[in-house]
Amino acid sequence: MDYQTLRTETRGRVALVTLHRPDALNALNTALLGELLQAVEGFNADPAIGALVLTGSAKAFAAGADIKEMQAMGFAEIYLSDFAAGWDRFAASRKPIVAAVSGYALGGGCELAMMCDFVIAAQSAKFGQPEITLGVPPGMGGTQRMARAIGKAKTMDLCLTGRMMDADEAERSGLVARVVPDAELLDEAMKAAEKIASFSLPATMMVKELVARAFDTTLTEGLRAERRLFAAAFALDDQSEGMAAFAEKRKPTFRHR
Ligand code: CAA
Repeated sequence: MDYQTLRTETRGRVALVTLHRPDALNALNTALLGELLQAVEGFNADPAIGALVLTGSAKAFAAGADIKEMQAMGFAEIYLSDFAAGWDRFAASRKPIVAAVSGYALGGGCELAMMCDFVIAAQSAKFGQPEITLGVPPGMGGTQRMARAIGKAKTMDLCLTGRMMDADEAERSGLVARVVPDAELLDEAMKAAEKIASFSLPATMMVKELVARAFDTTLTEGLRAERRLFAAAFALDDQSEGMAAFAEKRKPTFRHR
């Protein structure tokens, strides 16, 4: 597929989506959102794909929503169009998405990384919610996802001061799963996604759904949901195969991949 603001490729069962607006540090504009949804929803519908990696350039994962596009908009346009709502469709991807972040992940870029299932960061990565410097609060989930991911203290610090945090601080805070040298970023992210894509797809989708639910419900409801899906997994032939393979000391061959 030919996109203006993205590059996509598939490697085995992994789809790699690279944000590509080099002149604007991958600022997230309407065209990019439309193409990203098309790509991600297409890969979700493709049975040959088991996991996705989302990345940007060495200098910027994404430097935020496109300020120049938003600049001329008024309240009515933003409110009536439900401006940031399209991003909910990205976050609703049922297949796991690994964010491979190098350079700036600011504003909407940080929010986009947080919509992914986990973040692998290059040493050069810088995370922040600088919207306050533009006279607005974050609008793509920054206050909510970040507070859940790293707690109130650092979220308030980042959102109120607009400062950036480096990859090590982001990892210590729990925003980032792993930090790797810049030169190894894509390899590490692809390896993680290949591993995920080698497992039973319904099982990985259940894990994603359940961990996401932990941020959205009570412990009692979350545990109930987990038990239901755990039991449901026993209806899959992948469960029989996975457990038989363990007992027989061989590699499993999952049918639903
Ligand atoms: N929107 C539109 N264009 C952007 C952009 C953005 N968010 N970020 C960078 N660009 C453009 C710059 O305007 C510049 O374009 P020109 O060459 O045409 O002038 C180009 O990308 C390169 O950027 P810089 O020259 O600024 O690069 P730098 O290395 O000097 O600085 C930076 C890098 C610190 C990331 C700086 O670009 C910056 O501060 N960007 C804006 C960050 C920001 O405020 N993000 C939040 C956006 S609001 C948001 O995201 C709202 C929301 O939650 C929905």
